[in-house]
Amino acid sequence: MYKTLIYEKKDNIGLLTINRPDKMNAISRELTSELKQLLDEIESDEELRVLIITGAGDKAFVAGADINEIVDREAKMGRRISKERQEIFSRIENLHVPAIAAVNGYALGGGLELALACSIRICSEKAQFGAPEVKLGIIPGDGGTQRLPRLVGLGRAMEMILTGDFIDAQEACRIGLVNRVVPPEKLMEATIELAQKIASRPPLAVRYAKEAVNRSQEGATGSGFALESFLHALSCTTEDKKEGVAAFLEKRKGEFKGK
Ligand code: COA
Repeated sequence: MYKTLIYEKKDNIGLLTINRPDKMNAISRELTSELKQLLDEIESDEELRVLIITGAGDKAFVAGADINEIVDREAKMGRRISKERQEIFSRIENLHVPAIAAVNGYALGGGLELALACSIRICSEKAQFGAPEVKLGIIPGDGGTQRLPRLVGLGRAMEMILTGDFIDAQEACRIGLVNRVVPPEKLMEATIELAQKIASRPPLAVRYAKEAVNRSQEGATGSGFALESFLHALSCTTEDKKEGVAAFLEKRKGEFKGK
């Protein structure tokens, strides 16, 4: 039994719900550890055909890392956590079955990065997407600097990562971040329909096709991931990070000094 996750399976389609709705499904240490455990289970499930990932409640898919846990994050911890979450999200990206993100609300920071690790994204009209790390004085650490530009192009990724601004569902669809936008009440139906279609195709062909398509994006990203992780760790050491996190928790505007 998991505390922060719900996992159900029906007709060889897995449904993973990130379940901390009172905290906008933010990714805590406990959630990270439960996700690792669940992935062990999912990876050995040869009957599974498609995994759907969504967020509990009607506000958020996942609103990023739990900011309360970023308060004390210094370089060493920043590097460890970044590497750990990069690995978990890469496990999702490279799962033996495709994962579809059903984005039901905010997909921010690590939530955006989780959606990016999925093979396909469908979202509700209420979804919003953003990489707000810069506003906290840090940079994305869970693969976002590598996967976002691959999906939406360098310029669009730069704008999102450098401003921290959110984009709405229609804009996300326009730039290719999601495949389609549906009314909130149709999100699960539309996602399950797509999952069933993929599940009806020959499993090995789907598995191999997914792997080949993933490899097409590889290039030199191995070093990109390492750099991202080190720079994330470095950003955790700044005064601006301390100020940004404190300002968020105190519900005020941050004052940044470039230190
Ligand atoms: N970590 C921890 N708690 C979070 C959180 C996060 N990433 N995102 C939201 N929450 C909490 C809020 O602190 C609040 O808790 P409280 O009710 O105990 O005060 C609760 O979830 C609801 O959030 P709130 O900010 O009141 O809702 P909102 O509708 O005004 O705004 C967001 C929603 C998602 C836009 C806003 O919460 C936000 O910007 N979150 C942070 C996103 C972020 O920077 N993520 C990247 C982290 S690296």
